[in-house]
Formats: sequence, structure tokens, C-alpha cells
Amino acid sequence: MNAHSTVTSPVLTGTTLKGLTLANRLSVAPMTRISATIAGVPTERMARYYQRFAKGGFSLLTTEGIYPDKAYAQTYKDQPGLADREQAEGWKRIVDAVHAAGGRIFAQLMHGGALAQGNPFRSDTIAPSALRPRGQQMVSYYGAGLYAVPREMDEADVAEAILGFAQSATLAIEVAGFDGIEIHGANGYLLDQFFTDYTNRRQDRWGGDIGKRLGLSLAVLNAVRSAVGDAVPVGIRLSQGKVNDNKHKWTEGEEGAAIVFKALAASPADFVHLTEFEAWQPAFSAGGRSLVTLARQHAPDLFVIANGGLHDMARAEQVLQAGADMIALGRGALANPDWPRIAAGKREARPLELEMLSPISDIKDGELQL
Ligand SMILES: Cc1cc2nc3c(=O)[nH]c(=O)nc-3n(C[C@H](O)[C@H](O)[C@H](O)COP(=O)(O)O)c2cc1C
Repeated sequence: MNAHSTVTSPVLTGTTLKGLTLANRLSVAPMTRISATIAGVPTERMARYYQRFAKGGFSLLTTEGIYPDKAYAQTYKDQPGLADREQAEGWKRIVDAVHAAGGRIFAQLMHGGALAQGNPFRSDTIAPSALRPRGQQMVSYYGAGLYAVPREMDEADVAEAILGFAQSATLAIEVAGFDGIEIHGANGYLLDQFFTDYTNRRQDRWGGDIGKRLGLSLAVLNAVRSAVGDAVPVGIRLSQGKVNDNKHKWTEGEEGAAIVFKALAASPADFVHLTEFEAWQPAFSAGGRSLVTLARQHAPDLFVIANGGLHDMARAEQVLQAGADMIALGRGALANPDWPRIAAGKREARPLELEMLSPISDIKDGELQL
């Protein structure tokens, strides 16, 4: 048994996020599983998949990235949407299943921008600047070869994207009954394309220094907050690495991180979800601070969710000690949908053998039962 597996572990203590009671510090990270209908409607299969994590003891789940509009947001074929009532009602069945098992669930709203590789609504892509993305399309999500060169967004495109997030957030709360909203600002998708120096070469108000490049994310946070009201937990996911550039570091280093976290502290965000390859590591250079520590320092009132390699109990506890409020598990939750029981010392963890993600990352039969 893991030496850290005691019932008193801080990962098993309860907390609250904007009045939402969470039984422990363990959440499931957002994971795209492309298992919706062709119309983007979530399925019964997805409800069983999500409910399993709540039955396994995770107090909070974040959905896979959901497309918020039927214009340029959809990124992958068979990705679920939250852009019409039928899709929202499909999500309600999932939310109800998670609630019935005692869990809470946030919707992750995601716009793919230049990384859209399977959007039935548009044959072209849009981005802050007309630059072909680095890397190759994701094969496990039906992609192949280089990404398309996107069209540079004009003001009308920017306004449409912001409105899409806000309308989708309204459906998420009012129709589907989600407990909160996570804006996907990470991993190389549209908001991260605006945030990243080498993908955003704009000279207008949406480009420039790191504070200006965060501007679209802040505009989306403001629009979502106005749409859902003051009571709903709203936050944003940020990363350094991207699906098409996993070694990227914020060029402005710790000084840039200070600007980002202070801006989030002054924004309507309640939480920030930070994902790194290894969440406990110095963010920029040896001996420096982790993103979690920097967020805690510059945004003391923000609820911090930490993700990245935290399926090791000692690491999870270390990151909570460094100031995170909650940890999120991706691969660890796929391999162990009842990971909270491992944290309680009730059994050994299964290794991260993720055969369910290949050749295509859709939900497999073996994942439907605990
Ligand atoms: C199959 C799969 C799908 C993912 N899809 C998403 C996604 O839709 N949105 C997102 O923000 N991150 C996504 N991620 C990243 C995870 O949320 C997480 O950051 C990553 O797995 C690292 O955490 P871990 O070390 O706990 O696995 C995905 C990861 C995996 C393995």
C-alpha cells in the first residue's frame, strides 16, 4: 500500500467553490472522447462513461471540450456540442446521471480556431493570424496531415466567437443544469492562439503584449459571467504546452505569469485550471516557481485546480501543499475511474495502460462499468 494512503490525506478533505460543496479535492480532467451523434448530441453511452467517475468517488468532473457554436468552433468529428436545445437536453441526461451518483460537473466550452480538423459546419478555419499551425492533425480524432492555413479573424468573427461562448453557457446552466462553466483557454485552441506570441501577430486591440493577448479570454469570461449571473462558478483553463507544441513556455516567464494571474484576479473568474506536463515542476527554469505557486501568489482568492501527472499521491499532496485547492486527473482517471478509493488506501492503482485511446479515442465498451 502506498505510504501516503491514509484516510487523513488532504486530497480527501472537502472544500467549497463559490458555495458549491465538494466532498474531496479530486476531479476528472476534461478529455475529448468524440462519442456524440453526428448532430453533436451527447449519448446514453457518454452518460454511463461520465457517471462511472462520480460513482468512483470523484467529487467534480469537467466534461470534454464542447463546441459552443455552429460556426467555426467545432474541432473534431463526433465531438459533442452545446449550441442548440437538443444538444443541451442530451447534456442534461449526463448531468442528471452524475448528480444521481453524488458528483458535480462543469461544462468545458472550447473553440478550436486553427486546430479545427473535423468541423461539418465550415470547410475553412479561423484564427488570430493567417499562419499554418505547427505539427500535424490528431490521428486518434480522425485527422491526417498538416492543419489548414486559417483565415485571419475580423471584428465580426471575434464578436461571433464571444457570443457563442455566452449563449452556450446559458444553455449549459439553464437547460442542461451544469454546476459551472470552464472556458478552454489552454492547449493550443482558439483562446490560446490569441494568447500565444507566435500565433497572434495582430496589431489591433486583440494583439500585442501578454496582457493584450489575454484580452479575448477576458472578454469571453466577462460575456459568460453576464450570461449566467453572479452565482454560477466560472473559470478558465490555461496551459503552456499545446496539443501541437507540447514544449511551449510563455515567453514572458514569471513576469508574464504575474500579469496573467493578476488580470484573472481582477476578472469575473472564480477559478483557474492550470495544466502542465508535471504540475509540481518550476514553470520556467530550474529553481523557479510552479504555475500553481505563481497563481496562489498573484491571485490569492482564486480557486486553483491543478493538473498534470498527479495520479501519484505524493505529488498530488505536494501540489495541494503548494496552494492548489483541487487536483484534476486525466490519464489516471481513465485507468482508475475509482481513483479516490486508491487515495483512501482501499486498493492499488492500475497502471496507465490506455489502450482505449487507440486507434480512435472514442469511448469503448470496457469503460462503461465500474
Ligand atoms: C484522451 C484525452 C483527451 C483530452 N481532451 C482534452 C479536452 O477536451 N480538453 C482539455 O482541456 N484537455 C484535454 N486533455 C488533457 C487532459 O485534460 C490533461 O490535461 C492531460 O491528460 C494531462 O493530465 P494527466 O497527467 O492527469 O493525464 C485530454 C487528454 C487525454 C488523455
